Amino acid sequence: MSLLEVTDLTISFPDTTGREIAVSELKFSMETGDILGIVGESGSGKSVTSLAIMGLTNPNTLIEADRLEFDGRDLLALSEKEFQQIRGRLMSMIFQEPMSALNPLVPVGRQIEEVLEIHSDITDRQSRVIEIMKEVGLPRAEELYHQLPYELSGGMLQRILIAMAMIMQPKLLIADEPTTALDVTVQAQILRLMKRLNTQYQTAILFISHDLAVIRDICQQVMVLYLGYIMEAGPVEQLIKRPKNPYTLGLLKSIPRPHRKDQPLYTIPGRVPSLSERPQGCPFHTRCFKARERCRQELPPLVETGDYKLRCFYPVEEA
Ligand SMILES: Nc1ncnc2c1ncn2[C@@H]1O[C@H](COP(=O)(O)OP(=O)(O)O)[C@@H](O)[C@H]1O
Ligand SMILES: [Mg+2]
Repeated sequence: MSLLEVTDLTISFPDTTGREIAVSELKFSMETGDILGIVGESGSGKSVTSLAIMGLTNPNTLIEADRLEFDGRDLLALSEKEFQQIRGRLMSMIFQEPMSALNPLVPVGRQIEEVLEIHSDITDRQSRVIEIMKEVGLPRAEELYHQLPYELSGGMLQRILIAMAMIMQPKLLIADEPTTALDVTVQAQILRLMKRLNTQYQTAILFISHDLAVIRDICQQVMVLYLGYIMEAGPVEQLIKRPKNPYTLGLLKSIPRPHRKDQPLYTIPGRVPSLSERPQGCPFHTRCFKARERCRQELPPLVETGDYKLRCFYPVEEA
């Protein structure tokens, strides 16, 4: 049994005129200690996928799946009350904007302690909080405990959120663009910290980013999403060395290369359509340099070969 098993997950927003589909037939699984990346431009369905797993989607969201199972539980069958017992204890999440995830009026140490109050019966909670604060690399933890969020830098706040997410040693941590709001050096420190916690506690990490370079730093496996469809998935190094889907190639070419500042940075032509403008056929054909008539008519199937998956009629040839 896998830790997280997702089969044919479809997420949509029904309204009076029909329904807009944000995620289609998503399929993946994670084992204990895995780090899986999800990459794709804004609007590809990364956040709704993580919120669906956490049971945190808006009431207007319809979640359907053949299987959506975590640690032996059917997540589709859980009540909000049952989700509350799992969230923060067995699975937890960190977001892009640490400031908005914290209460501005409550000292940061207290906010970490609240997780312990809900989920554990240990008595000396404050020392456990200070211990985890030190573990995530926060200096002067005893003093910091009493400070308010606005007194901390973005990188320190993200460490507070990681401490909060990790204090119960969950089996799964979902990180939704956790380093996007941070500068590059702090970003690297946070990635190192997450890798260390992953090794130390065997916490599986679902790591979401729009940036393939960040994914490459932390993940073994990656899934490339576009408009809610898996376009390509497999070992990170393979996708980076030999991308087959033109969309993966486009994401790769858009990675900034600091030593090549003289060259203009590549961007994939066009923009991600809104859900209501989602094209027929392959979702990416309107922006794809390899698109032909068939791509405009038919959705390419997701073809699986071992741990590698590809959705494309006309893959990029190897260089
Ligand atoms: N509650 C909602 N109601 C309607 N549309 C939504 C809602 N939440 C997200 N969407 C749409 O679903 C798509 C995927 O969103 P999201 O998962 O946030 O993308 P990503 O995180 O990859 O940028 C977007 O087109 C977004 O506008
Ligand atoms: Mg998002």
